[in-house]
Amino acid sequence: MTKYWSKLVEGLEPYVPGEQPQDQQYIKLNTNESPYPPSPAVAQAIKTFAADSLRRYPDPQSGDLVTALANYHGLKPQQVFVGNGSDEVLAHAFQAFFKQEDKILFPDISYSFYPAYCALYEIEYEQVALDAEFRIDFDGFRRANGGIIIPNPNAPTGIALKLAEIREMLADNPESVVIIDEAYVDFGTESACLLIPEFDNLLVVQTYSKSRNLAGLRLGFALGNENLIEALQRVKNSFNSYPVDSLTSSIGLAALGDEDYFQDCSRRVIASRERLAAELAELGFEVFPSSANFVFVRHPHSKAETLYLELKTAGILVRYFKTARIDDCLRITVGTEIECDALLDALKKSWTKTPA
Ligand SMILES: Cc1ncc(COP(=O)(O)O)c(C=O)c1O
Repeated sequence: MTKYWSKLVEGLEPYVPGEQPQDQQYIKLNTNESPYPPSPAVAQAIKTFAADSLRRYPDPQSGDLVTALANYHGLKPQQVFVGNGSDEVLAHAFQAFFKQEDKILFPDISYSFYPAYCALYEIEYEQVALDAEFRIDFDGFRRANGGIIIPNPNAPTGIALKLAEIREMLADNPESVVIIDEAYVDFGTESACLLIPEFDNLLVVQTYSKSRNLAGLRLGFALGNENLIEALQRVKNSFNSYPVDSLTSSIGLAALGDEDYFQDCSRRVIASRERLAAELAELGFEVFPSSANFVFVRHPHSKAETLYLELKTAGILVRYFKTARIDDCLRITVGTEIECDALLDALKKSWTKTPA
């Protein structure tokens, strides 16, 4: 019944997340979730959580969690904003900073939620083409803009920028907000968080969904100058005063407190990524250099869509984007060693059926 829809809603092309099938058990290597469970401290926090406290609204400022995140990142609480997953934090940031006269800029191959936010908030954008090796073209970003957003490492390529490159981009754009989306930063990239004292136009966004193994919880946060954080608070308080519920706050605190577990999981994912990348290269794949918890690959002789479908039939989900420039590629999340072996075996079997 579209007659009740606004023109805006009629024109939206909503973001489509990776498949989360409920019908069958798959080896899920398609949505960059962690292959490991959350820290045991999380299970403990759930067990000891006082259910009675749910009668009350949560702290609208999420004070304890904000203070803990500020201490962890060497910042002040006024430099931290928390939200219901980093998708929500990003959406608020688009609304707070990017509705400007000039168009905002982001790479042509990047997180596909960005154009969806632009449509929702009627923000104009231009996409800057990655080079042939899928690297960021810095010269392409040297033009008038109403803001810049870049995932670092980039998704779905996994390729990371160096801190010096981000510093240069921030210095080049003192009049615009530059958002660095660090969903995958903990798998071997230096965080731009270190640049916050130097640049009041920098907003860093991170998530608990990947390296903290808590995609089902929905917790993300932004770090930046007090002024930027105040703008996010203004948007949040015009939308939902309580985006982070009290159970999520407690779990977030518990996960943040278990540094050893977090470091151990990140190390294991990095080690598995390196092995997976090497074995895929042995199978003839071109493997782009990944600093994330996934690898982005293409095969010179096998169609990505065919491989995706064959793997699905074998009970393994990977991500295939039917999108210009990358419709010959697959993005494969790093699983446990056993899951990676299953993927490699399935690929070898598919090779013997249809030799490359
Ligand atoms: C680049 C990037 N940013 C942000 C997100 C959103 O993460 P979440 O909303 O789970 O915190 C994702 C999720 O896959 C992502 O790939």
